[in-house]
Amino acid sequence: MPIPYYSTVCLLTVVCWLAASTIGFAAGERNLERGKRLYEKYCLACHGPLGRGDGTVQFDPPVADLTSSEVLSKPNSRLLESIHKGRPNTAMDTWKGVMSEEATRDVLAYILTFPR
Ligand code: HEC
Repeated sequence: MPIPYYSTVCLLTVVCWLAASTIGFAAGERNLERGKRLYEKYCLACHGPLGRGDGTVQFDPPVADLTSSEVLSKPNSRLLESIHKGRPNTAMDTWKGVMSEEATRDVLAYILTFPR
């Protein structure tokens, strides 16, 4: 039985969309666009536009400066964990329920582009 024309078009659209959304982001490669989008949505209010901890909301203990050596001396795995699980007894909440591990890696990759 021949496959109707519209199903073929539909299938091709889906295949192309899937291909387009993954091309350029092979395993291990980070999506900085997504990282930036998520950062601006969830992190900027506290961490500020360039991660200096100068967002519009202030806390005690203070918001970490993401360009400081105190933060950057920690291995990425440790920082991912901080974002994923949050930091106990601080305003830094867990983002586990909001962002997948992949998305969290993208946000961290974006943070690491801030000028030091
Ligand atoms: C409500 C304010 C707030 C928001 C929103 C927030 N943070 Fe934080 N963040 C903090 C505070 C406060 C600290 C300092 C915690 C500490 O003293 O250990 C911190 C620390 C950090 C650190 C350093 C952790 C470490 O191990 O030293 C990273 C990385 C970080 N935040 C990333 C993020 C990312 C990514 C987001 C968005 C998904 C985000 N934060 C959203 C308040 C916030």
